[in-house]
Amino acid sequence: MSTFLLFSTSSCAQLLILILFLANHAQCHATSKQHHHYTYHNPKLPPPPTTNHTDTKYEDKGEFTSSKRFEGSSNLVDLKYHMGPVLSSPINIYLIWYGKWAPSQQLLIKDFLLSISTPHHQTIPSPSVSEWWHTVSYYTDQTGANISQSVLVVGEYSDTKYSHGKYLTRLTIQEVIISAVRTKPFPVDHKNGIYLILTSEDVSMQDYCRAVCGFHYFTFPSMVGYTLPYAWVGNSGKQCPEVCAYPFAVPGYMKDGPGALRPPNGDIGIDGMISVIAHELAEVSSNPLVNAWYAGEDPTAPTEIGDLCEGLYGSGGGGGYIGQIMKDRNGRSFNMNGRRGKKFLVQWIWSPVLKACAGPNALD
Ligand SMILES: *[C@@H]1O[C@H](CO)[C@@H](O)[C@H](O)[C@H]1NC(C)=O
Ligand SMILES: *[C@@H]1O[C@H](CO)[C@@H](O)[C@H](O)[C@H]1NC(C)=O
Repeated sequence: MSTFLLFSTSSCAQLLILILFLANHAQCHATSKQHHHYTYHNPKLPPPPTTNHTDTKYEDKGEFTSSKRFEGSSNLVDLKYHMGPVLSSPINIYLIWYGKWAPSQQLLIKDFLLSISTPHHQTIPSPSVSEWWHTVSYYTDQTGANISQSVLVVGEYSDTKYSHGKYLTRLTIQEVIISAVRTKPFPVDHKNGIYLILTSEDVSMQDYCRAVCGFHYFTFPSMVGYTLPYAWVGNSGKQCPEVCAYPFAVPGYMKDGPGALRPPNGDIGIDGMISVIAHELAEVSSNPLVNAWYAGEDPTAPTEIGDLCEGLYGSGGGGGYIGQIMKDRNGRSFNMNGRRGKKFLVQWIWSPVLKACAGPNALD
């Protein structure tokens, strides 16, 4: 459910998966081939710091927190459907910009979001963001309805005055949503809406960096008056880039030193945030009320379709390798194309069809 970076394994099953994976992929990482205007590479990077989050549970609020890192393909992944809804109607994103944002940063994030559903007149070269979303759209509900391929940004609200403070919690974030929905014309859209709260780099959040880089949940009728799926992601550019903007910053190095990858749009915080936003959007769409698609027996600590592929961006990833991705002429890493010529590096998503992590830049 939340985006964590955790490289330790905590059970025999996970260890087994890791071993199987290493055995399968040990031969894949040496390849580097020329293709179009970019080269492939499969960097091996120092792992991000291990966090304490597995010790943290939010059972009182029905919240989770646990993230397990399964890489590649395995029949041992027990991803199950728990009969709840998925977002099968066209998805409306309501963006809440909390804190101070540069218009160029907002535009870059919107470029990513608006690349998911590409209008017919635009042609975006493969591998593309909309192809990446295809994996998400393979999830269905009990009526057989797929997650919608239509994802639009339909409203934006800015809180430049930090009206709920510069430290938010899992509960006060709901007050930020209340403020936004009370501000007309920002509607209550409980059929199609996802409320996406993005906090600027000077805002801290409960468990941020230590345990989470983003999370999703739903609002409580007692607080907000409605049950609205929402997701939060913070700009970690200044707070913990080596955790939440990995692999554009890695532990033990200066953030632009050797080891870290060059971000596709030159902004470590925002480029890192985009992969976390992607992860949370995939999960909120497939598990909006935390009763649809997740692995694990404990609904307070679900492992969701993004968690299963965290840190994996291409074929042949695992064991410290992030997978085969592309590098442009300026040495900037990416694995998918978006609108207006933008490039992004976004993690893969677990495919219910392939029973493996999948992405548009797969080599086979
Ligand atoms: C993890 O927990 C231990 C003991 O509770 C604490 O000393 C340590 O600082 C924590 N680490 C992080 C990264 O928060
Ligand atoms: C719906 O999902 C199934 C797999 O679960 C897939 O075969 C099918 O192509 C999907 N349909 C659409 C319209 O995406």
